[in-house]
Amino acid sequence: MKDKILVTGGTGYIGSHTVVELQNAGYDVVIIDNLSNSNIEVLDGIEAITGKRPVFVQGDCTDINTLRKLLEENPGIKGIINFAASKAVGESVQKPLLYYRNNLNTLVNLLDLMPEFGVKGIVFSSSCTVYGEPDVNPIDETAPIKPATSPYGNTKQISEEIIEDYIASGAPIKSIILRYFNPIGAHPSACIGELPLGVPQNLVPYLTQTAAGIRKELTVFGNDYNTPDGSCIRDYIDVVDLAKAHVIAMKRMLDNNDTDQVEIFNLGTGRGLSVLELIESFERATGVKVPHKIGPRRAGDIEKIWAAPKKANEVLGWVANVPVDETMKNAWAWQCKVSPKK
Ligand code: UD1
Repeated sequence: MKDKILVTGGTGYIGSHTVVELQNAGYDVVIIDNLSNSNIEVLDGIEAITGKRPVFVQGDCTDINTLRKLLEENPGIKGIINFAASKAVGESVQKPLLYYRNNLNTLVNLLDLMPEFGVKGIVFSSSCTVYGEPDVNPIDETAPIKPATSPYGNTKQISEEIIEDYIASGAPIKSIILRYFNPIGAHPSACIGELPLGVPQNLVPYLTQTAAGIRKELTVFGNDYNTPDGSCIRDYIDVVDLAKAHVIAMKRMLDNNDTDQVEIFNLGTGRGLSVLELIESFERATGVKVPHKIGPRRAGDIEKIWAAPKKANEVLGWVANVPVDETMKNAWAWQCKVSPKK
């Protein structure tokens, strides 16, 4: 019997894919989610893939009493993966306190309760946004942290510091901090995927909704950057590859006694793709055209960033495997499932 893991934000985009991989690896999963940016039907999708329905608690992790009750009623939780956070960069500028409250209170509550309930390790979702505009690419974990350009980004930096300070104080827990680059795609079964509320802010959901005819055209935010085709470069990583890294990280914390108490890993492919190259990949993979135009730059965008994933490759034994065309095909199958008209 494998350990029991609490996944906060487990019905969300990355959370749900991670629950699938945890269950496939034999772990028992308890989800807590307040359904603020996901819906309960995600549990059906998870069950359709794994044949197992995770325990689900609807609740808010910013309330410590809710978390305490969950831990009392579900004894024996050994690890936590914390996805419960707000993540829209623009919204965080408008509503900074929402971001500080959600993202920081949740983390503090979880850390606070871990020793009392014998929870050994926490995997934390951080972001490459902590590097700001890199001086060099690819960027590794030793690169300097740059001042955050949004409250969202700031919550990631502060969260990393909170974890480090708590562990340095002698707290009997371990943590693996994962700095994601740009997660995209959907489960190949098309049973789960990304479900943005309203107008998508991120590239791939906007792109697939445009291909599906829900949006008129995609705007490429700038073609005058210092990159080969002028559009911004990112390291797009398949969400299932990303989910698998969490399972490896959890196993490492729980089963290995001689690892450091805090470890940080970049999760990316090591390959940068421009916005225009990603559109080409989608068109090549699906045969569907994406109407698009070049527009002005988006304020706050980084010109180019991609990962040096060597540490994750060598220490975790994890490698991003899914080719980007495959990822785009999966993103499209999911889009067709949620908007089957076209
Ligand atoms: C942003 C955050 C990242 C966060 C992620 C999650 C920063 C610098 N980055 O990533 O930390 O984890 O959101 O939501 O804060 N684009 C278009 N047209 C569109 C949409 C996007 O051209 O309609 C371009 C952008 O200019 C960018 C690329 O596509 O070059 C990716 O954008 P997006 O998907 O929003 O992710 P990031 O901004 O990289």
